[in-house]
Amino acid sequence: MEKSLTISYREYADCNSLAPDDRRLLDLAIAATDSAYAPYSHFRVGAALRLADGTTVCGSNQENAAYPSGLCAERTAIFAASAQRPDLRDYHTLAIVGRNPQGSLCQASPCGACRQVLLEYEQQQHHPLRLLCYLDGGRVRELHSVADLMPFAFEM
Ligand code: THU
Repeated sequence: MEKSLTISYREYADCNSLAPDDRRLLDLAIAATDSAYAPYSHFRVGAALRLADGTTVCGSNQENAAYPSGLCAERTAIFAASAQRPDLRDYHTLAIVGRNPQGSLCQASPCGACRQVLLEYEQQQHHPLRLLCYLDGGRVRELHSVADLMPFAFEM
């Protein structure tokens, strides 16, 4: 039997259409691109995670000469949050922004490994983790849940 899956997501025409809290989170993600260590790809990524209590933790990509040893911005942010606040592993929204080698903001969407990691944290809380992904041209994509990006995921 042939089956199909659909996801729904929202797209904002520009950052100013976001709710004020989301706009602030996106601005933190934009600022976080400045802390990227990306001497190899010259592609900087910023991530800003809002926890359930309204506090935020930021991350950026950290590269290494031994390439696989580096880490994406999304995992840097959520691992930092989990390590700093093990009492509050409850995540509301993650904003993600890319900055290309020319220095312009550009789109960023979590890679497969980040999706797997984000999903596990989402599954341990009682509500979805939203994602706000900056898109080229200043648009923003809102995904309502990490699970939407990771159908048929590995689980134990
Ligand atoms: N990168 C991220 O930080 N997040 C993603 O979701 C995809 C890629 C980083 C990894 C590497 O430092 C650079 O972007 C180029 O791939």
